Amino acid sequence: MSALTQTPAWRRLADLYERRRHDTLVARFRDDPGRERRFRYRLDGLELDLSGQRLDAEVLHALLALARQRKLKTAIRALLTGERVNFTERRAALHAAARGTPAARVPDFHRRLRRERERTYAYAHAVRSGAVRGQTGRRFSDVVNLGIGGSEWGTRLVTHALESPTLRKGTPNGAPRVHFVSGLDPAELKRLLAVADPERTLFLVCSKSFTTAETLLNAAAARDWLTHRLGKPAFRRHFAGVSAEPGRMRAFGLAPARCFRIWPSIGGRYSLWSAMGLAAVLSCGPEAFERMLEGAQRMDRHFRNAPLVANLPVLLGLTDIWNIDFLGIASRVILPQDDRLRDLPAYLMQLEMESLGKTATRDGLQADYPTGQAVWGDLGYRARHSFLQFLHQGSGAFAADLAIVEGVGKERQAMNHRISALSRLFVGGRKNRDPHRRYPGNRPHSVLRLRRLTPRLLGMLLALYEHKVYVQSAIWDIDAFDQHAVDFDNARR
Ligand code: F6P
Repeated sequence: MSALTQTPAWRRLADLYERRRHDTLVARFRDDPGRERRFRYRLDGLELDLSGQRLDAEVLHALLALARQRKLKTAIRALLTGERVNFTERRAALHAAARGTPAARVPDFHRRLRRERERTYAYAHAVRSGAVRGQTGRRFSDVVNLGIGGSEWGTRLVTHALESPTLRKGTPNGAPRVHFVSGLDPAELKRLLAVADPERTLFLVCSKSFTTAETLLNAAAARDWLTHRLGKPAFRRHFAGVSAEPGRMRAFGLAPARCFRIWPSIGGRYSLWSAMGLAAVLSCGPEAFERMLEGAQRMDRHFRNAPLVANLPVLLGLTDIWNIDFLGIASRVILPQDDRLRDLPAYLMQLEMESLGKTATRDGLQADYPTGQAVWGDLGYRARHSFLQFLHQGSGAFAADLAIVEGVGKERQAMNHRISALSRLFVGGRKNRDPHRRYPGNRPHSVLRLRRLTPRLLGMLLALYEHKVYVQSAIWDIDAFDQHAVDFDNARR
């Protein structure tokens, strides 16, 4: 038996589960009229509503005791001061430091990062203002991010969340359109190049390792396409790169002035905050990107300083532990209601499944408790016409995260009204004498509400999820920052 399942808090949680297994959310709301207020937590313009989770005061109390018995505060300090929390690779996880949160153990790192960020911003300014242009003297109107996994999803999410909805042929402020190509199938790149203008297209080769087959094949194909049309000298003007391997970028032929660095201790799926976010900086501008970093830093400070009982990432992580380890819920659906957050499900899919999809603990033992969840989802209004049927009447257990951006205007209010209705149905279901029209409800879910979709609140939201993943890994005693199982090219039967 593992140390975790032997803790008094774990045993207490197992006992509470036995006593409450048949309780319903309807009963919880009925018996506790102050529930909605009590399980609602706020940080600036971000609100986390856990009243739709199958929690009560005693369960929450036991979960917090578990966090204390697993020394979660010490683990949080270790992460944010730059200790080697990535224990299988013996290195720190410096994504919070990458966005400017001071990490006492790595003072030098900040200086280097700041310098690199300034270079990134200067380059983005130059592209956006037209000071840097293509080979024939024309301004760049389109940027193609060639990268996959962590070298795509975070940047893509932020680009789509913050870009102007009217952005088409390059706006007056010079923001280029950004496209993302990640696949191994050449068809994806070909489709884009068929309509691209070589004179106005800038390619970013984004790969932490600079060895990822998908990215390098696409980069080589894009280079051939470009040089065939504009000649060899055009390559150095029309290509930039981001990697932790400057030597490999140079070997590929990139101009040193257009090579931007990250460092090995910034995990791929956590790298958005570093130069890896270049495409987003080009799209939304350095000022907005900087506001996003500030929002994420705000969440870092909160994670470090807030008491466990009011700490949003801690509460969210503990809730998922309750769902996974005690309620036995192996899947979680992410339902953003706002089109600008359309990439959130895919981003979280990688963040959570690559970080928590493991069962070997720090001592190399096999965890005897479930870890991680299958994470999936889509925009809430699309879900309605695709898998909502399963959510209401299917037999599979799942939890849900609903993400809402508040706002003014009739359309937005109607959209938000719908998702609030969904939340009510997840609680109470629908009664009907006809069993085919009845649904049971009692679906545990959280609601994340942003007052507006500002860069700052977006940064807070993403850092909230990063840290809640870390909370789970610290309690489960697994490494959230490695990914030893992603290579299958050389698999043998
Ligand atoms: O899928 C494995 C992985 O290493 C991810 O962790 C990473 O985000 C992705 O591949 C891309 O890696 P790279 O940035 O090195 O090209």
